[in-house]
Amino acid sequence: MASNTISITPQQEGLQGDFCVPGDKSISHRVAILGGLAGGSTQVRNFLCSADCLNTLRAMQQLGARVSPEANPTCFTLTGVAQQPTPPAQQIDCGNSGTGMRLLAGVLAALPFASSLSGDESLCSRPMGRIITPLSAMGARLQACGAKPGCAPLHIEGGRLSPIDYELPMASAQVKSAVLLAGMLTQGTTSVRQPAITRDHTERLFSHFGIPCRVEDAGLRVSVEGPVTLRGRDITIPGDISSAAFWLVAAGIVPGSCLTLRHVGLNPTRTAIIDVLRRMGADISISQRVDACEPYGDITVRSAARLVGTELRPEEIPNLIDEIPILAVAAAFAEGETSIRHAAELRVKESDRIATTAGNLRAMGGCVQEYDDGMVISGGAPLQGAVLDSFGDHRIAMSFLVAGMRAAGPTTLLRCENISTSYPGFETHLHSLIHTA
Ligand code: S3P
Repeated sequence: MASNTISITPQQEGLQGDFCVPGDKSISHRVAILGGLAGGSTQVRNFLCSADCLNTLRAMQQLGARVSPEANPTCFTLTGVAQQPTPPAQQIDCGNSGTGMRLLAGVLAALPFASSLSGDESLCSRPMGRIITPLSAMGARLQACGAKPGCAPLHIEGGRLSPIDYELPMASAQVKSAVLLAGMLTQGTTSVRQPAITRDHTERLFSHFGIPCRVEDAGLRVSVEGPVTLRGRDITIPGDISSAAFWLVAAGIVPGSCLTLRHVGLNPTRTAIIDVLRRMGADISISQRVDACEPYGDITVRSAARLVGTELRPEEIPNLIDEIPILAVAAAFAEGETSIRHAAELRVKESDRIATTAGNLRAMGGCVQEYDDGMVISGGAPLQGAVLDSFGDHRIAMSFLVAGMRAAGPTTLLRCENISTSYPGFETHLHSLIHTA
């Protein structure tokens, strides 16, 4: 687990390094679920050994899946339950993970037993109505029993569902995936239509695990024909571009830097961060691109001669939703304005990321105008080091440690322990790159 408090001093020399970031979080959750339900075994390589994904893997073990060897949760054989899971003896703990809870709820709603899902304080304050609505329309019995209305713990009386044709009210890969996972266990065709393209890992992994899945309207409409038979299939999970993003910005803003990040996932529904940073003037190149079920490649980033502000397009938002805190940091070092709107979803992430990002930037002397659906950052003014709260949000902690590399004076981030929910080893990578004053 990462330390509670991490401090950083301004970097006088460039960052130099060549390394791999840990496996992709979204893909790891889905591999645990699909491999855990499949018949036969799935050899998993480069699973994200983070608290979030280990909780999902443990949930599948509670349903009868086997992990061997247990001692090495990055590379292991997952023996699935061949669509015959056993009822979990205890409540399933999803920790800090909205993805884990929403995806598992989709599966559990369609299984013939009762279960319940809970998590930490942050997760128990995030909206679950968005999955309860479509799953209830399929006939599922789900109850949000949290202190906050519509929030976890979730109690699920699983059973036979009816297929649905569901129009998502928001661009959410988690909601899309919850419905599709329920649909794959349900007789008939379940379809979802999304208002914008969201990450398509579920669709890609459906194909990989032998599940017939139809993608239409340039990805906006997805259907699955259930019930399906899943077959175990080996998979190597690429590095998480959301974790790589911290280093793309760090190298971009610290003069004299050059970093190479190997085997990073380059799924086109996740790479808007590269497009936007390039638009801002970042020097990013990609080599060794491999087209697999999930494409990947090596990314080299050199410090930018000059960064300039940009306006994010509405359709780019779901494609870089998790990278907005670190993008906001890049924007603070860019000349001119960066406009990030149509991003109200940020308010219901691990923290209210509009408030926490804007608040921390301001505490460092940055100029930010906050809106209901985003923020506009006027960059270019030097940032001052500060003592900042990460609000228990892993991405806020990592983003502002990167900001601290280019601020005047030391920066200290409090409550960093949740960094390990997505990036175990972040602190080690950070210390291998920085020069301490
Ligand atoms: C995820 C989807 C995104 C993202 C989250 C992971 C996924 O959430 O923020 O970190 O794996 O499906 P939404 O789909 O709710 O926007």
